[in-house]
Amino acid sequence: MTETNRITSDDMVAWITLLTQVLREQKEYLTELDSAIGDADHGINMDRGFQAVLAKLPTYPEGDVGALLKGVGMTLMSTVGGASGPLYGSFFLQLGLATAGKPEIDVAEFAAAMDNGIARVQGLGKAEPGDKTMLEALLPAQAALHRAVDEGASPGDALGAAAAAAEEGMLATIPLVARKGRASYLGERSAGHQDPGATSTQLMLKAAADAWSRA
Ligand SMILES: Nc1ncnc2c1ncn2[C@@H]1O[C@H](COP(=O)(O)OP(=O)(O)O)[C@@H](O)[C@H]1O
Ligand SMILES: [Mg+2]
Repeated sequence: MTETNRITSDDMVAWITLLTQVLREQKEYLTELDSAIGDADHGINMDRGFQAVLAKLPTYPEGDVGALLKGVGMTLMSTVGGASGPLYGSFFLQLGLATAGKPEIDVAEFAAAMDNGIARVQGLGKAEPGDKTMLEALLPAQAALHRAVDEGASPGDALGAAAAAAEEGMLATIPLVARKGRASYLGERSAGHQDPGATSTQLMLKAAADAWSRA
């Protein structure tokens, strides 16, 4: 594997920095999605959390992918409210635990770390596929990521495939009736609206693809 196929802690910083920027740009959009089937705070929650993460980035030890991702998780846990805070917080915490002490990882290790993160989201939130949650984006992305890894894809291409699968999953939430979280209080009336958490998950994976795509 060539050096460009490694994901370094600088690459992680680039991902998180880009994601913070994207979430700031999409804050109103995410909040608008949440106003249709929730309490109109998802964009505000995510933006608040990642602005806090951005402020803390320089304080994490250099050259340690795991410490960085763990720090992101802890900060999200303490700054993002609602259902999504503990879920995204634990997701990043698991990514960090799986990559502890590593100055760089390959995309297979990233995929394995994602497996842990997604398992934690499922364990905590108890959502099943089809419940209209962020898992609608995470699960297809996970499958696409593993397929790309098996085919020997670069980090940028593998995450590009994951982001494309997440986008399909995100769009497929529109007709679903929510069975978990605040949107489930609406019952059948939650159908016809795109899930905010699946949307922020798609943005998260797209930001990784964009940050890791090399010319
Ligand atoms: N049990 C769950 N499992 C996975 N994701 C969930 C669960 N409950 C809610 N979510 C996700 O959280 C998103 C809402 O986040 P947010 O608005 O920040 O929190 P809250 O619903 O508490 O206001 C939903 O769109 C959904 O994707
Ligand atoms: Mg909300």
